[in-house]
Amino acid sequence: MITIIVGLTHTHLLNFFFCFQESELNSFLWTIKRDPPSYFFGTIHVPYTRVWDYVPENTKKAFKQAENIFLELDLTDPYTISALSKCQLLPHGENLSNVLPQDIYNRLKKHLDYVRDALPEWMTADQKGRGLYPDYLFNAIAGNWERKRPVWVMLMVNSLTEGDIKSRGIPVLDLYLAQMSEQQGKVTGAVERVEEQCVPLNELNFSQVVFALNQTLWQHEIYRQGKESMPYTTDDLIQHYNCGDLNSIIFNHDTAQVPTLVNTSLPPSDLHRAQTIDDYFRNELIDKRNQRMTERVIHLLQKYPQKSFFFAFGAGHYLGNNTVIDRMREAGFDVQHTSPDYTIPE
Ligand SMILES: *[C@@H]1O[C@H](CO)[C@@H](O)[C@H](O)[C@H]1NC(C)=O
Ligand SMILES: *[C@@H]1O[C@H](CO)[C@@H](O)[C@H](O)[C@H]1NC(C)=O
Ligand SMILES: *[C@@H]1O[C@H](CO)[C@@H](O)[C@H](O)[C@H]1NC(C)=O
Ligand SMILES: *[C@@H]1O[C@H](CO)[C@@H](O)[C@H](O)[C@H]1NC(C)=O
Ligand SMILES: *[C@@H]1O[C@H](CO)[C@@H](O)[C@H](O)[C@H]1NC(C)=O
Repeated sequence: MITIIVGLTHTHLLNFFFCFQESELNSFLWTIKRDPPSYFFGTIHVPYTRVWDYVPENTKKAFKQAENIFLELDLTDPYTISALSKCQLLPHGENLSNVLPQDIYNRLKKHLDYVRDALPEWMTADQKGRGLYPDYLFNAIAGNWERKRPVWVMLMVNSLTEGDIKSRGIPVLDLYLAQMSEQQGKVTGAVERVEEQCVPLNELNFSQVVFALNQTLWQHEIYRQGKESMPYTTDDLIQHYNCGDLNSIIFNHDTAQVPTLVNTSLPPSDLHRAQTIDDYFRNELIDKRNQRMTERVIHLLQKYPQKSFFFAFGAGHYLGNNTVIDRMREAGFDVQHTSPDYTIPE
């Protein structure tokens, strides 16, 4: 027992005490066997400070050695950011108050007033110490809400929770990797265009969006009253990630960035509508993107056979069905999961 513990790093010890299955120390790294090798790494959308210490040393070494770092989108490119926010806006001249049913609009406004009032309490002393003010944060996330398309307002409502607010202000893991890549003078690139992530969400039809927004608001109204707690929180996601739980479906939700609408206590017709929307998201935001991302990865690998790549995509693209890994293997590539104790060649 003692020899085992001595051999473990500080991080492993933390895992040992906090994870339910302490033997399952795992990693989100896969090696694409070629010379030089290339890598897939699974990220999540949480502040890097909450997960970085748990990322195995061999993953960090693989990143350091790679000449090219490719992400889903290049979040360090100002064009990406402006295109993302533009894509979320209603057509010119439209406003949510003219678009949404009156009842939903009123509930939305009321909910956002509640969030604005709760924000000073939700924020941590550390966030305030770093100069992040509640009004500033609220405006940064929700300031322009009346001009947003309903589907994006639904995602916004879903992200305005105490747990999410507490993790604002520090770069999320994928952004942190992009920043490090630039600092280290690596080539930084993206395998997707903004429109490819954005348009599928905008193509959900109006009655489906209203249904989804209604459901989302309703869930948050229940949480607000303290009657129930949220099924998936940021803390759960981080716990599963740090424990290397490769089986958890929670990563698919983080990757798709959409809530689950299916609730088995819904009446049958609503349940069917919820299922249709969930299936649509799954298909558009995971399956189709896995296919497209894999094609772009293969294109890069074939175009630059001498170069090393490190692909950092949401962990949900590697887990579940029809993953990027599955598709790479179908295309004839040898892709192996890489355990934390594997030695990365120089
Ligand atoms: C949207 O319309 C409402 C009511 O007509 C108005 O009070 C509000 O200022 C408008 N918001 C924006 C962003 O145009
Ligand atoms: C929206 O899409 C659903 C599911 O595809 C369909 O049943 C419904 O008729 C559509 N509604 C409108 C208004 O297009
Ligand atoms: C919102 O959902 C509730 C409960 O399912 C339903 O009674 C109400 O009609 C819905 N509102 C709209 C505008 O769809
Ligand atoms: C699921 O639906 C039931 C009844 O319609 C509701 O009481 C419950 O809060 C819902 N659960 C979630 C997580 O939304
Ligand atoms: C994978 O597909 C199987 C069979 O269609 C399904 O039962 C399972 O829930 C799917 N898993 C995920 C994570 O979507």
